[in-house]
Amino acid sequence: MDEREAVMSDVEVIRAGGVLEVTLNRPAKKNALTNSMYRALNIALREAEHDPAIGAVLIGGAGGVFSAGNDIGDFVAAVQGGEMVGADFVRKIAAFSKPLVAAVDGLAVGIGCTMLLHCDLVYATPESRFSLPFVDLGLLPEAGASLLLPRRVGMARASAWLLAGESFGADEALAAGLLNATVAKDALMATAREKAAQLAAKPRTALMAARKFLRGDKEEVLARIEAELDAFHRALASPEARAALTAFLNKGK
Ligand code: COA
Repeated sequence: MDEREAVMSDVEVIRAGGVLEVTLNRPAKKNALTNSMYRALNIALREAEHDPAIGAVLIGGAGGVFSAGNDIGDFVAAVQGGEMVGADFVRKIAAFSKPLVAAVDGLAVGIGCTMLLHCDLVYATPESRFSLPFVDLGLLPEAGASLLLPRRVGMARASAWLLAGESFGADEALAAGLLNATVAKDALMATAREKAAQLAAKPRTALMAARKFLRGDKEEVLARIEAELDAFHRALASPEARAALTAFLNKGK
């Protein structure tokens, strides 16, 4: 029997054989990522990195949504001196050395989309929608997306998605090479679990070494992440970001 153990409320972490399954679980807020959720993700990644029993990590979202990105209230709090634990998360996921598999069902916005660039296998339901609305919020791409996305999908698409803020569906994400496959909703988790378990069962040293070469120059990615974060923090304090973020928080009032 697999040992299954759930910890932390808005991020559920389950051990299933050699796979650490991490589920973003704040569906009432579209799985928007708070500082406490990033802390839980950081703990999960650290645990997976150091535990020899874990060979792969699977990230998914509960409630028919992957993630609506960083919690906008936390962005506003960060301007007033609050923490930005998301910065540590992007550093950790970029430096993570074991295979990462993502199962996307529904919305993948902002960091909910850029984190996929650090995953090795990504599966999504045909209904999934992706968007990178950083510029429209007065912000900038993060998680190394300014480097990794044009490499992955070409400059034309990266500009349409990151600068023009065009959202896109699963078919376009698949054609662009962001996804490995689209999978029907009722088969998504089984497929992603099977792929993650297969990776976890492979010869570990060879797999991790091959992955390291495939992912390229880690120092370059980490340096770009720091440069983006620096610019991101300055943008966050700008009048245009304040206006856009406050408008979102005040919607419906
Ligand atoms: N931060 C904080 N709260 C968020 C959120 C976010 N990133 N995304 C969604 N929520 C909250 C909404 O405020 C709403 O809360 P409420 O029920 O208390 O009003 C709840 O989640 C449901 O979202 P809602 O906007 O009603 O759902 P929708 O299906 O109409 O739209 C989105 C979904 C994702 C398109 C929309 O919520 C959105 O644009 N969110 C912001 C995405 C974003 O810009 N993320 C940051 C990228 S850098």
